[in-house]
Amino acid sequence: MSVNGGPRGGKLRCTRKRTLAMIGGVLILIIALTVGLCVGLSGDGNGVSEQQDVPVFSIDHQANTFLLNGQPFRYVSGSFHYFRALPDAWRNRLRTMRAAGLNALDTYVEWSLHNPHDGVYNWEGIADVVKFLEIAQEEDFYIILRPGPYICAERDNGGLPHWLFTKYPDIKVRTNDPNYIAEVGKWYEQLMPRLKHLFIGNGGKIIMVQVENEYGAFNACDHDYLNWLRDETDKYVENKALMFTVDIPNERMHCGKIDNVFATTDFGIDRVYEIDNIWKLLRGVQPTGPLVNSEFYPGWLTHWQETNQRRDGQVVANALKTILSYNASVNLYMFFGGTNFGFTAGANYDLDGSVGYTADITSYDYDAVMDEAGGVTQKYELVKQVIGEVLELPDINLNPAKRLAYGKVELTPALELLSAEGRAALSKGTPVTSDKPKSFEELDQYSGLLLYETTLPSFDLDPTLLQVDDLRDRAHVFVDQQLVGTLSREARIYALPLSKGWGSTLQLLVENQGRVNYDRANDTKGIFGQVTLQLHNGGALPLDNWTTTGYPLEAYTVEAWRQRQTEMNTALAPSIAQQRLLRSGPILYTGSFQVTEVGDTYLNVAGWGKGVAYVNGFNLGRYWPLAGPQITLYVPNELLKVGQNSLVLLEYQRCNKTLNGAELPAVQFDAVAQLDGQSGEAQK
Ligand SMILES: *[C@@H]1O[C@H](CO)[C@@H](O)[C@H](O)[C@H]1NC(C)=O
Ligand SMILES: *[C@@H]1O[C@H](CO)[C@@H](O)[C@H](O)[C@H]1NC(C)=O
Ligand SMILES: *[C@@H]1O[C@H](CO)[C@@H](O)[C@H](O)[C@H]1NC(C)=O
Ligand SMILES: *[C@@H]1O[C@H](CO)[C@@H](O)[C@H](O)[C@H]1NC(C)=O
Repeated sequence: MSVNGGPRGGKLRCTRKRTLAMIGGVLILIIALTVGLCVGLSGDGNGVSEQQDVPVFSIDHQANTFLLNGQPFRYVSGSFHYFRALPDAWRNRLRTMRAAGLNALDTYVEWSLHNPHDGVYNWEGIADVVKFLEIAQEEDFYIILRPGPYICAERDNGGLPHWLFTKYPDIKVRTNDPNYIAEVGKWYEQLMPRLKHLFIGNGGKIIMVQVENEYGAFNACDHDYLNWLRDETDKYVENKALMFTVDIPNERMHCGKIDNVFATTDFGIDRVYEIDNIWKLLRGVQPTGPLVNSEFYPGWLTHWQETNQRRDGQVVANALKTILSYNASVNLYMFFGGTNFGFTAGANYDLDGSVGYTADITSYDYDAVMDEAGGVTQKYELVKQVIGEVLELPDINLNPAKRLAYGKVELTPALELLSAEGRAALSKGTPVTSDKPKSFEELDQYSGLLLYETTLPSFDLDPTLLQVDDLRDRAHVFVDQQLVGTLSREARIYALPLSKGWGSTLQLLVENQGRVNYDRANDTKGIFGQVTLQLHNGGALPLDNWTTTGYPLEAYTVEAWRQRQTEMNTALAPSIAQQRLLRSGPILYTGSFQVTEVGDTYLNVAGWGKGVAYVNGFNLGRYWPLAGPQITLYVPNELLKVGQNSLVLLEYQRCNKTLNGAELPAVQFDAVAQLDGQSGEAQK
């Protein structure tokens, strides 16, 4: 018996509900009775149901091809995640993709964007996924929808909302945990009805809907969960599109395979040399049907403190040609990458511990086929040529935005984050006092900073060693409001010396650098271990009675402060304003710049340390030129206006002033991106 749906697997509306189970060596067929659906539809018996039973998009298991309206069909698609470009840029990006010959668009749906807090939903602006998909249809794409709900995607927490851990501290995401599946059920109840009219069987262009994402790579291997998610997805898809899975080609593929869901795989240029072996692995879980590479990587993701991950365009084009020569369908991940605006970038954590925690850069340029600003590249021309050999290239005129250099902008130091004024303006809620430090999730805070404060007890060593266990991710340490050092999960530095005479108040300002998005999705943030001082006898004195203050740093809070500040025009004391190293904590700098012609531009933060930048009340994302390789932040033209534009830099560490302090601190708006900067260069 085939567990792969047999011929024309798309027809198995009711039998899809079957699960095979071996119990005591006896093969037992359990028919999960989703009675309402099956009986309801088959009971129709009026000719309409017959029509409904022929899916518009299905699989021919004899000819190993997709069928669209009964005709053999193959797609070459490109990934573009709507949440990585501004809505006003969506059509332009899509049209550029279509011009390369792609006939399908592939996108994830990000749960945490649409459902930022329990019970709160967002479908506007950059979260208007329906509008995005409708534009894609208008631009002549079929659509491959990947709703996760876990999406990886180098996004914070792999797209899962942080508040799952606020509500259920012990939740086991991506498993059959009743709390998790109840929340996924509630989410799909919100999401799926909005998309229903877009399924191809309902007259739209969504041909495929993914169930979970690279689940074989997840240690749980929980098929009860996968079967539940399949049925939950099918509740809405109802055979109006084809459900599929994507798994890395390896010995764990069976952990991602779901009965009666079409299996595909993913691989990049580094594995094309073993393509026959990869198809063999895929055939191990999916014996018939078209071959599909759901994520062919023309570039790769980049972390802070490593070299920008470039991939050669000719090598990419050749590999694509090889894949297409097998009559496979293929999705280029990413065709257009875009930007991890705000605090949305994710991170990695390697389980064998050799690298540990590494956070993703803000840019998701990815060295993709198009660049971060949506422009065509040499790689684009090479890839287009290869696509043109199998699909018709449409005749489309492109209209790219200009890239402009607005030059130098001087900045004024305007607010100390940790001062009384800074707390009043930017901290959220009442500070919480507790024995142990509170986490971001306990405070229902997505990202930004947490300030932990306590009083230092007397200690009998000079110096003693302050130790912070299980820090996620980075802490600036202050004694009596003076910086005494930095601890870091990335650098695996969790201790620093404190001298006796330094003072009595201890502050740890902890930055969330992005939740891990791959392999696990439970990377909660804050301080989880003990904070101790070393004692003379070798023991450790735990510190307790912590006050935790949250700084979510949402764009609207920062913008509200900026507007008040502009009216009041208050200035910092010169002793603070002239600091180069920010000894008493982060400072907000403000500036403005004139624009006579609106274009794309890049905010160059060379000479600064680490922080967050806001333009016209929009959070561009984290910057960290000291670490590199990203030196510039992409500023979409859609954010700018003719006339005066505003800029806020929240700098954690270091102002870009020269030592003699003759000039005001400044940034520069450039016409070109700088994503390949060396940390050494940036440190001048
Ligand atoms: C690809 O499809 C064509 C047309 O159906 C067929 O002639 C050819 O043998 C196929 N190639 C492979 C490698 O399957
Ligand atoms: C987080 O997930 C990883 C990988 O699935 C697992 O090993 C670890 O125990 C989890 N941690 C917690 C606190 O649940
Ligand atoms: C805990 O800290 C708060 C705030 O600093 C202080 O008012 C309180 O007295 C402290 N409690 C103890 C038991 O030390
Ligand atoms: C600060 O930034 C300005 C504008 O980009 C630049 O001209 C200057 O060299 C930078 N200063 C330092 C010390 O890096």
